[in-house]
Parts: sequence; structure tokens; C-alpha cells
Amino acid sequence: MNKRNFLSAVSLAVASLATGSAWADGNTFKIGLILPMTGQQATTGRQIEAAARLYMAQNGDTVAGKKIELIVKDDTSVPDVTKRVAQELVVNDKVNVLAGFGITPSALAVAPISTQSKTPQVVMAAATSSITEASPYIVRTSFTLPQASVALADWAPKNGIKKVVTLVSDYGPGIDAEKFFKERLTFNGGQVLESLRVPLRGPDFAPFLQKVRDIKPDALFVFVPSGAGAAVMKQFLERGMDKAGIKLIGTGDITDDDQLNDMGDGAIGVVTSHHYSTYHPSAANKKFVDAFQKANKGLRPNFMAVGGYDGMRVIYEALKATKGNGGGDALLAAMKGQIFESPRGPMFIDAQTRDVVQNIYLRKVERKEGQLYNVEFDVIKDVKDPGKAR
Ligand code: PHB
Repeated sequence: MNKRNFLSAVSLAVASLATGSAWADGNTFKIGLILPMTGQQATTGRQIEAAARLYMAQNGDTVAGKKIELIVKDDTSVPDVTKRVAQELVVNDKVNVLAGFGITPSALAVAPISTQSKTPQVVMAAATSSITEASPYIVRTSFTLPQASVALADWAPKNGIKKVVTLVSDYGPGIDAEKFFKERLTFNGGQVLESLRVPLRGPDFAPFLQKVRDIKPDALFVFVPSGAGAAVMKQFLERGMDKAGIKLIGTGDITDDDQLNDMGDGAIGVVTSHHYSTYHPSAANKKFVDAFQKANKGLRPNFMAVGGYDGMRVIYEALKATKGNGGGDALLAAMKGQIFESPRGPMFIDAQTRDVVQNIYLRKVERKEGQLYNVEFDVIKDVKDPGKAR
């Protein structure tokens, strides 16, 4: 090797260190998908992984000349594990994008890694308002609890629900839901009589529900994360709260499509607000639901699946827009402002906040074609995260 060739080989090696996978892996584009595949949040992992794989099956695994490699890692929804896995994915696997994040503490644990390594972090599930502010590299395709809660607090007092007790999981999204629901309900002339918080891990709802029964509000407003709704519904009905005249309302996490059909007729009539229902009446959604069920032994896609599916779309489109040559900053820029029709309805990524702007629907559980669904009866269009305006 002459001197000139030697020098260019050295500079190539240095460049490959600096730019990571672009040089190291040539034509591969790696997506590190970190999800809770086991433990309390396992349904979220199962839904998002299935949706990501469906997106790839439908749209091919080669984009802008790059072969897409999806690396799925289980973080068991323990934030220290999420952080370690993210570090390994960035340093060892040299992923181009980090994605997934089943719960808020997991998304927050990775934010400093995304910032330092300039790796776009696509949050497909976690929904505390402040997450997008934890790193300029975060883009969200799920929703925020303030988005969903405010719509319900506008609906409730117009529908005979003035006195409410709130019951939320005691961490980021629950506290957002409690705060924004209460503020808006109070503004609308309603009243929150009591605010109860239950632990995220292994909650026992019984003593809290007993308390609600004693207070006897018009309604109980609930936020629990996806996967925990069926337990609340079961205990609510077992205690005869509905028969005592207490209505159950909440964000759509409680009537989660992953579990709803097994909740029984007691769930009929429950009103929730959310950004996605499997029953959303659009051609795009019908196509999505049919394909998802076909590929997953009839499993019904829930709002987590849609967050994962749309997150993959945002990544694919950014890769296309940067013609396969972009580093983290270019990819991030190409994610901002994307606007498209999701199975949930129209949505876009706000270029300033990197957060999702979307319709929020009011829905009521009904039996349709023999199955329980969240049937939409009203819509508030293009809702920005109310948590950002303060
Ligand atoms: C969250 O931890 O941010 C989270 C998890 C599950 C949900 C909503 C929010 O259904």
C-alpha cells in the first residue's frame, strides 16, 4: 500500500467510526425496536412487533437501496434494561433508529442516549406529554394523555356527568390524565371529588373501588396502561358499581381493543376518548385490520399496533426522503412534518414539537356483528397535545 492509499484507508476508518452504520454496514439500515415482550406490558410488545412486521411485509424490506433490518429486543418494561439495551443497539449494532418504548419511564431512560448519539428515537407507545421534550431526537406516533383526556372532560358535563372521581396509575401518563381531565372538567363547571392513584406494578383495585362506591360520584374516570383495563372492568362490575349508578369513563386505554371483546356485556355503554378504534370506519383501517388479523391468527390490532405501524411508516418515508444517505440529523428532519392517512384517520408530526397531531374520537362500547367494539360517535379534529401549550 502506498502512502496515499494508506492515508485514505485511515481516513475511511475514522469516518466509519464517526458515522457508524453508514460505513460499517454498507447497505443495511437498522431499526432497533425495544419493546416489553414479557411482563405486565407484554401485550404492547406483541401488538407493536406484529404491526412493524406487517408494515415491512406490505412495503418491502428494501428502501432507497438499503436493506431494512429490524432488531427486536425485550426490555421487560424495566427502564434500566431499556437503557442498557439501547446502549448496546447504538454502540454494538450501530442502529440508525431506535423505536418502540412501551412505557414512559423506558422512553425517558433512552432520551439522553438518543441525544448524545444523534439517533432518532421513534416513540410508538409511551404517552406522557413531556416525553418529546426529553430529547430533540424524539418523534412520537402514539398519542398523549392530555390529548385524550381533555376531549372526555368536554363531553362529560354535557351528558349529565358533573361529579367525578379519578383513578389513575401513579406515574407520568396517569398524572397527566388526572391533571388535564380535572382542569378541563372544573373549567366546564364539573367537579372532581377525589383523585386516587394506584401503583403501576401489580395494582389491587379493590380498596380504591370500595372508596369510590362510598363517595358515589356520577362517574369514575380511569386511566390504566394498555393491558390493565380488563382487571379494572372486572372488579368494577363485580362490585356492582354500575348498578349503584356510577358510570365508568376513561381514556381508551381502559377499553383496549386487545382485551375488549373478552370483557363481556358489562362493558357495553362505557364511553371513552381516544385516537384509535379497531372499528374506525375507513377503508384504510379496514385494510389494516384485515391484514393484521390475517397475519396474526385473528388478533385484533389495538392503538399500540397503530402507533407501531405508523412509526414504521415515518421511518420508511424519512429513509426515502434522504435517499438512503442521511445520518441521524437528516432522518430526523425528514420525520418532522410528515402528514398522512393512518388507520386511525389523518395525522401529522408537528415539525416544532415532533409530537403527533390527530383526531380524538368519543366512543361507546357496543356489540356489533357479535363482537364488542369501541364505536365512534363524535370527533374532535386535529388535536395538538394540550400539554405543550403551557
Ligand atoms: C405510558 O407509559 O406512557 C403508557 C403506557 C400504556 C398506555 C398509555 C401510556 O396505554
